[in-house]
Amino acid sequence: MVNVQKTVKDYIAGKVVVHALRGVDLTINGGEFMSIAGPSGSGKTTLLNLIGCLDIPTSGEIFIDNEPISNKSKTARALLRRKKIGFVFQSFNLIPVLTAFENVAFSLSLLSLPQKEIYDRTMNILDEVGLGGLEKRFPKEMSGGQQQRVAIARALVKQPALILADEPTANLDSNTGKEILKLMEKLNKSHKSTFVFSTHDAMVMDFAHRLVMLHDGRIVNGKKSS
Ligand SMILES: Nc1ncnc2c1ncn2[C@@H]1O[C@H](COP(=O)(O)OP(=O)(O)OP(=O)(O)O)[C@@H](O)[C@H]1O
Ligand SMILES: [Mg+2]
Repeated sequence: MVNVQKTVKDYIAGKVVVHALRGVDLTINGGEFMSIAGPSGSGKTTLLNLIGCLDIPTSGEIFIDNEPISNKSKTARALLRRKKIGFVFQSFNLIPVLTAFENVAFSLSLLSLPQKEIYDRTMNILDEVGLGGLEKRFPKEMSGGQQQRVAIARALVKQPALILADEPTANLDSNTGKEILKLMEKLNKSHKSTFVFSTHDAMVMDFAHRLVMLHDGRIVNGKKSS
């Protein structure tokens, strides 16, 4: 479903060019549960942002369901994202003035669905991520793990084919991080969504069904764990 071909990404920082990705080739199949791992600065966020159509490559091409993204306008990329991709961030990124329910329902509000369907889908997914009964809590009234569950529910409620999670457990203690990974694994099975998560944590890498290691903007291996 995702095909990254000879992808290069340079950033201009003042007068300096930063080579964030130096020619990445990667195929991600539908239904995968995989991790992009590597040290700080290796290009993980850059690669996820490109796959998520938040940005376009300097050269090379990325195909989402065989559609190249580089020639698309910002608006066209936003539409593609809305249809196919859910994001989960390291810092949860919930809207502080909205409840758990409202944070999740909000991401459905752009899809012009009937109110009843928005309500049912939101309640169902909150239940599925283990937050039944906490719908009315605001982010600051929840633990980090609970906030990340809201963020996962928000990403999944649109039923996107692809979920991208940039260091989703980095702000959680290791037990809570494990619970979040188990939850993502369960949702990967039940929803058949593809999950791609980045990390520099060996414990998190262990959970992945496939591991791709980035180093200095290049893939240095792509091994199957277990
Ligand atoms: N907007 C930007 N402008 C300039 N340089 C950038 C920008 N974003 C990232 N970089 C640089 O690109 C390289 C890759 O950064 P990236 O954020 O993709 O790494 P990462 O693997 O996600 O790191 P971390 O584990 O710290 O999140 C780094 O050298 C970084 O400094
Ligand atoms: Mg990063």
